[in-house]
Amino acid sequence: MQKFKRIKGTQDILPQQANLWQNIEQTIRNCMAQFNYQELRTPLFEQTELFTRSIGQTTDIVSKEMYTFHDRGQKNLTLKPEMTASMIRAYIENNLASTSSFTKLYYITPLFRQENPQAGRLRQFHQFGAEALGSLSPQVDVEIILLALEIYNRLGITDLSLMINSVGDPQSREVFTAILKSYLKPLLDQYCSNCQKRYDTNPLRILDCKEENCSRLNLKAPRLIDYLSPESSQHFEQVQSLLIDHGVKFELNPFLVRGLDYYTRTVFEITSRELGSQDAICGGGRYDLLAEQLGGNPTPAVGFASGMERLLMVLAAQNKLPQNNERLQIYIAPLGDRATHQASLLLQRLRHRGYKADQDYAQRSLKSQMREANRYNAQLVILIGDNEIDQNLYSIKDMRNGQQYSVKIDEIDQFLEKTL
Ligand code: HAM
Repeated sequence: MQKFKRIKGTQDILPQQANLWQNIEQTIRNCMAQFNYQELRTPLFEQTELFTRSIGQTTDIVSKEMYTFHDRGQKNLTLKPEMTASMIRAYIENNLASTSSFTKLYYITPLFRQENPQAGRLRQFHQFGAEALGSLSPQVDVEIILLALEIYNRLGITDLSLMINSVGDPQSREVFTAILKSYLKPLLDQYCSNCQKRYDTNPLRILDCKEENCSRLNLKAPRLIDYLSPESSQHFEQVQSLLIDHGVKFELNPFLVRGLDYYTRTVFEITSRELGSQDAICGGGRYDLLAEQLGGNPTPAVGFASGMERLLMVLAAQNKLPQNNERLQIYIAPLGDRATHQASLLLQRLRHRGYKADQDYAQRSLKSQMREANRYNAQLVILIGDNEIDQNLYSIKDMRNGQQYSVKIDEIDQFLEKTL
């Protein structure tokens, strides 16, 4: 019989790992709550046009990587390749601006991009991220960066690099694009084939090409930050000086462009040497015009998203994966039919009282049941056999110190309360 395999570029998160994920997600949620960000969940798929209009037709994500399909009603739908567009769609559709002119939202979600799978690059991956909607203040750009850094810090990650840049507003970008193109034109045949294609479709992206030759040629290219409008320039200076005041180390990287078209002004990436060629653990920036582009009121906004799988890779490389401290409180080991029946009644009662408990159902030998209790890291084992039933008591072994007890059935609650 054919055995099925998971789709290339996807992962099963097995129980041990799922436990790690929950642990990390809890740290993320706690930190988001402390920064006063609230969770917003959106559907896994959206109308395709939401993404083409926001991320941009010529970006890699839209032109090559989206899982797009027609449903039975011939609607053109796409599995979310990123979350920002969905958040803004939900923000507008649910009129969240009516409650407050400043809204802070976060998410932890699976996403889908049909990329070439490799370490740290999957087709179904997960991001956590935050979006602050309704403020132009550079303080908020900095809050978003501090929030991402605080989460990494709480998880114990060290040695990250923060790169920032400003991509200005569309007017300065238009002027700059013409200047950049005239610089690139005579050199174009020395650039990689990807960059040659980008010359017509998305010339700014040539600036952050990772090919060695292209990066070398780019060193002499004009820099967008030299063509910013006075407002964008001032905003960027304020962001930098606030970061300095907060003691945050960063590198100004004039070649940082990002692969999504909605950005205005501040953009940033956080990278880790631990990640190899896919070294970005986090990316984000300001997108002041997106809400309007999606039919909403003008709403300046800024946010970040961080890859969960890459976060786990960095944690593993730095030996900082949270410990799995999960343990069962009580394992019931019955011997014989009568005992198995009694165990199941006791088990249900214990669970109802809030204990994390389990029992053997397979009528295995005492030795195998004790092995199973060890596998679950059980604190107590309650042994029930014919003797115990006849004498109206339970034999209890405390697995933490090897102590044994005989406890009367009607005194079990007090015993557990005292011992656990
Ligand atoms: P992005 O740079 O496309 O930005 O993705 C953010 C992060 O998601 C990356 O730095 C990386 O850690 C992770 N990531 C992206 N693609 C993959 C993949 N195929 N496999 C594994 N991890 C991946 C955005 O998505 C923007 N929405 C960020 C943002 C939020 N900008 C403003 N607000």
